[in-house]
Amino acid sequence: MKNTKKLYNKNSSKWKRDKPTSLSDFTGRPPVVELCGNVNGKRILDLGCGEGYVSRILLKGKPKTIDAIDISYEMINEAKKQNHENKVSFKTGSAVSLKFKQNYFDIVVCVFLYNYLSISDMKKSFKEVYRVLKKGGLFIFCVPHPSLPFMKRKNKKGFHFDFKDKGYFSARDIFAEGSIERIDKIKLPVQMNHKLFEDYFDTLVLSGFKKIPKIKELTIKKEHIKKNKTFFKRFEQLPLHLAFQIKK
Ligand SMILES: C[S@@+](CC[C@H](N)C(=O)[O-])C[C@H]1O[C@@H](n2cnc3c(N)ncnc32)[C@H](O)[C@@H]1O
Repeated sequence: MKNTKKLYNKNSSKWKRDKPTSLSDFTGRPPVVELCGNVNGKRILDLGCGEGYVSRILLKGKPKTIDAIDISYEMINEAKKQNHENKVSFKTGSAVSLKFKQNYFDIVVCVFLYNYLSISDMKKSFKEVYRVLKKGGLFIFCVPHPSLPFMKRKNKKGFHFDFKDKGYFSARDIFAEGSIERIDKIKLPVQMNHKLFEDYFDTLVLSGFKKIPKIKELTIKKEHIKKNKTFFKRFEQLPLHLAFQIKK
């Protein structure tokens, strides 16, 4: 969690949006929302909610409640500004230690947060998620694809993490700076603590989850290229994001 709070406090205005803007708004978030399924009447927790983009989409499905927390008070301030009918409870808080009662939520969704945590903090957070989820509740999260930083690419601009001379295995639990582009070419600074596929599966099991997760390896679709060839074509065939859905 190296300087993550500072990074997001400083860049909150760049994240503020009311329509798909960053690469992952097109390629990552829609499939994650789909994995949440029918949210009607459900109690949802949006962990690492940022300026509330995902909460606002989920709100359209008429959930019973949405609680949303983020470590950055500036991101929460931005979220509150767009929370016109006060339908989402936005608060500052850490994903590693949750201030909610056990067996409370039907859905915990966590979009691009675990790439900021060490493996040990991710374990603490998964344990907390397990505690606050109802039996049968769904935990959905996504991260940048673990292979992406180590793929051979001519042009790494657009979405990259700089692990320098490290490889897929030697970068394990190491932190790197990176960036992801918005469709208007503005760069958003992001970070990644690299984890192997096995770290996600092992940590889920160590945190109490016993069922087999559904995973989705996400990339761009033909419709993206049709929409804006210059922006999306360079990501063709790249494993961009990894999404998990697991039942308690
Ligand atoms: C890439 S942004 C994603 C925000 C939002 N989920 C979205 O999809 O737009 C990552 C967010 O995770 C938050 N974050 C990082 N570490 C956190 C932690 N330990 N607890 C809560 N939030 C955290 C950051 O402040 C940032 O707002």
